[in-house]
Amino acid sequence: MSIDYKKIVADIKGAQSLDNLEDLRVKYLGRKSDLSAKLAGIGKLPAEERGLAGKHLNEAKIALEKALVEQKNRLESDALVAATSDNTLDVTLPTNPHYGHAHPVLQVIDDIVRTFAQMGYSVVDGPEVEDEWHNFEALNIPAGHPARDMQDTFYLEGGNLPRTHTSGMQIRFMENNKPPIRIICPGKVYRNEDEDARHSWTFYQIEGLVIDKGISLADLKGTLLAMVQGVFGKDTQIRLRPNFFPYTEPSVEMDATCIMCRGDGCHVCSGTGWLELGGAGMVHPQVLRNVGLDPDVYSGFAFGFGPERLAMIKYQIPDVREFWRPSMKFLEQF
Ligand code: FA5
Repeated sequence: MSIDYKKIVADIKGAQSLDNLEDLRVKYLGRKSDLSAKLAGIGKLPAEERGLAGKHLNEAKIALEKALVEQKNRLESDALVAATSDNTLDVTLPTNPHYGHAHPVLQVIDDIVRTFAQMGYSVVDGPEVEDEWHNFEALNIPAGHPARDMQDTFYLEGGNLPRTHTSGMQIRFMENNKPPIRIICPGKVYRNEDEDARHSWTFYQIEGLVIDKGISLADLKGTLLAMVQGVFGKDTQIRLRPNFFPYTEPSVEMDATCIMCRGDGCHVCSGTGWLELGGAGMVHPQVLRNVGLDPDVYSGFAFGFGPERLAMIKYQIPDVREFWRPSMKFLEQF
């Protein structure tokens, strides 16, 4: 029970078109082919002939399949060469793809991260579900502090919580790394808040932390100025106003020149010429002690802004909720 497959291979190699090749495949390898019939008949052969016949027929099958694939590739490549040499196919023509792009809030985060990376900061990430130590206690926020109120915090069963700010990352990083420290931590935070034009219940924050010997408020101011000028342009100024955060002392609120009126006063900045960007301050000595650092040796600053608020300013969007509505029409503008 043999088959002259070398002759069939030659036949396949002579196929002039893909249709012709398909006809040959059906003829020589299809269900009704001589080869299929012979393969099906192996079981009826005397036992001593089966091994040899099976080996030969399988060799034939493999050779035919290989010849079919090779001839198919050859015909397809010939067709491509013919099409391109006739100039009927212009591979440089645009295929009209629909390009996506980064979300506007993520674009602002990228701008900020790039500005800090250029200043030598490392970007670090942390868990969105925090424990009370990292989110509150180590940051000098005792149990009775209003920030822990059920109005602001979603508590999970077992005492953990979706972080209410990225400041817990300061603690995590200082617990595991020795100064000098220069980090930036972008991430999502969650607060049990009513939504309005400036507030969402979930939003991004970017936390920054610098710890070393001899760090002062002047370093903080210079750093914030460099960040704001990196995002809004060189003619932007900042100002720091006194504020309170339990984990920084002194604490400040930072404002930047209104990008709409450039300081003259307009409806966007409520006539003040300044826009509020976020909180900052010198790391509280107790926070340094909480992570095992000696405040007589080390000092540092921390800051946290809301990129949604920066994106609202940059793109002049009056309502923060617009960013997270599933509207392609809105997002495609950026
Ligand atoms: C904090 O969360 C501090 N952890 C910031 C900080 C870090 C201070 C390090 C000192 C040192 P605050 O609650 O003000 O602070 O939030 C910081 C920024 O997040 C705000 O300035 C604002 O830009 C943004 N933000 C706050 N709440 C919302 C909200 N509901 N929706 C959108 N953005 C918000």
